Amino acid sequence: MKYVIAVADPVNERGLDILRGAPEFEVVAVPGKPDELTKVLPRAQALLVRSETKVTDAMMGQAPLLRVIGRAGMGVDNIDVEAATRRGIAVMNTPGGNTVSAAEHAIALLMALVRRIPWAAESMRRGEWDRKKFGGSELRGKVLGLVGLGRIGSHVANVARALGMDVLAHDPYLRSVALLVFVSGVAGTLLDYVFKAQVAGSVPAGRCWCCPATAWITCWSPWER
Ligand SMILES: NC(=O)c1ccc[n+]([C@@H]2O[C@H](COP(=O)([O-])OP(=O)(O)OC[C@H]3O[C@@H](n4cnc5c(N)ncnc54)[C@H](O)[C@@H]3O)[C@@H](O)[C@H]2O)c1
Repeated sequence: MKYVIAVADPVNERGLDILRGAPEFEVVAVPGKPDELTKVLPRAQALLVRSETKVTDAMMGQAPLLRVIGRAGMGVDNIDVEAATRRGIAVMNTPGGNTVSAAEHAIALLMALVRRIPWAAESMRRGEWDRKKFGGSELRGKVLGLVGLGRIGSHVANVARALGMDVLAHDPYLRSVALLVFVSGVAGTLLDYVFKAQVAGSVPAGRCWCCPATAWITCWSPWER
């Protein structure tokens, strides 16, 4: 008997080839084809998704043999984990896979912002050459505030320190500032920074999504002014 793996989203062929190479698996890749997915679900033991497919309770209802949902990536917010648990279906993700890419992307965006690269590129495409307007500023010596110092946050902290930045972080689930310093060499907590009111105007309030644990950062801070 072969276990059927339904692949609902685009996944790198090199990864799929590993599964295809195992004699006990039948891989049915139907990315972007919901009708085809509906046909394969009734005989699938495994479902592989990225972030596009919303794995709802109703979808799981169409897959009575389903035992595992694999998320190629970090977030599982497109999967109804509660419903999966109720149905005895394991949900697995790959949290470390894109960490460095995500962290480097954050640094790339930071550099693009301080150097105003998108606006300068757009202006140049219009045939302009306004160097003064796009002077930008240096990152060295600036303070970077991180909300969350897990895999991505720690790597961003390390890269930012290599650029000569001072890094502060807020992470309610890390136990002490000492641990923060140990993990990433950050210089203190964002909490200290906000209450000492050392910055103003860095982050426009309301631009960041807030949950109760982080709302104070944008809602009660000097950044709001
Ligand atoms: N790893 C990736 O490839 C990737 C790619 C894109 C986006 N993301 C997203 O980036 C985020 C971070 O990913 P990660 O891999 O670093 O996760 P992680 O679990 O390693 O780190 C998250 C950190 O956030 C902290 N945290 C939780 N709630 C917080 C709060 N209210 N305030 C401050 N800190 C809080 C946790 O203690 C933890 O240290 C996730 O939302 C993830 O979905 C991850």
